[in-house]
Amino acid sequence: MKKEMTLDEIYAPVEARLRAVPSAIFEILSTPNELAQDVIQYFFSAPGKLLRPALTCLGAEIKGLRPIQEKRLIALAAAFEVFHAATLIHDDIIDSAYLRRNIPTINVKWGPELAVLVGDYLHDKAIGAIFAGGNEKIFSLFLQTAGLVCDGEIRELKEKDNFNLKEEEYLEIIDKKTAALLACTIETGAILAGVSAEEAEALKRFGRYFGIAFQIVDDCLDFTGNEEEFGKTLGADCSAGVLTMPLIRLLQLVDENRKSEVLKIFSALDGSLPVRQAGTVLQGEKSEGGTNPFQVLLAMIREYGALEYSIEKARLYRDKARLELSIFPDSPGKRSLELLVDYVLERNR
Ligand code: IPE
Ligand code: IPE
Ligand code: MG
Ligand code: MG
Repeated sequence: MKKEMTLDEIYAPVEARLRAVPSAIFEILSTPNELAQDVIQYFFSAPGKLLRPALTCLGAEIKGLRPIQEKRLIALAAAFEVFHAATLIHDDIIDSAYLRRNIPTINVKWGPELAVLVGDYLHDKAIGAIFAGGNEKIFSLFLQTAGLVCDGEIRELKEKDNFNLKEEEYLEIIDKKTAALLACTIETGAILAGVSAEEAEALKRFGRYFGIAFQIVDDCLDFTGNEEEFGKTLGADCSAGVLTMPLIRLLQLVDENRKSEVLKIFSALDGSLPVRQAGTVLQGEKSEGGTNPFQVLLAMIREYGALEYSIEKARLYRDKARLELSIFPDSPGKRSLELLVDYVLERNR
């Protein structure tokens, strides 16, 4: 990619549809319950990247959508964003995260009890909208996906503090918790546009490889990101005892002495939120020899090239994703999907 493209530029072929998504979200979530309304307004006042609705729209675009399906497509794209939001709200409770999309999390602002309930509410409303807008195939695909997402999050919890976690196991977890939904969103758009079974499978695989690359980069940003740009709590994985690719790689490379040093630091970080307060982001070079355990760990991760290794893995998944698009003729939608996988590798947010 010559110059870094913005998401708006990448989303250009589906710009009109994406513009309709926010009001479709509020339509799905309209409620007379004032407290629920306040929380919903608050959460969606901070914009996300709209990756899932964009994938749904681009999945349809790649084959050319019949105008009659337009409304259904937007409703489904919005429903996926609502479902995603529900997983984020629940995830932030699980991870004790204090920042999401650059504003305090619902669990911090209103407490975990209300966050659980509002997450449930969004979850139920999303399912209702998918049921109303989809067909049997889409609904069954979605239900299967929702199960995988939970399965991935549960598996991640089970593997907390497991220092023997293998890279393949980590990849299985992120395939479920993150990639499955991205795959479902693009496949749904394609199904609405009437693709063949072979094309639907290719786009589903695209979504999975894209999602794995996306989550690996996300996990690197949890170590190296700039909190203001990333918009969420940094160091959240270590603080929650979650081992991600950079740490798994480091543990593979160090000798026994350094391994016990890493484990000691990791245990000290576990449960120690916040690692870094908003606005006091530490740059890598400043972290060398620092006394903050997170800085020490980050310095070791850098020393052993574990971040480069992880990004290289993400690139491999990006390449696998791009390969899946080769069966489709060139189109603006296909071009956007190619640019989107590149964006994921370069992103800071
Ligand atoms: C965050 O997803 C959760 C992960 C799967 C890493 P996004 O990065 O797509 O979140 P928003 O919607 O843009 O906030
Ligand atoms: C993202 O989990 C996956 C789901 C929300 C299901 P993470 O915990 O890795 O994502 P962030 O970093 O909080 O967005
Ligand atoms: Mg999290
Ligand atoms: Mg999590």
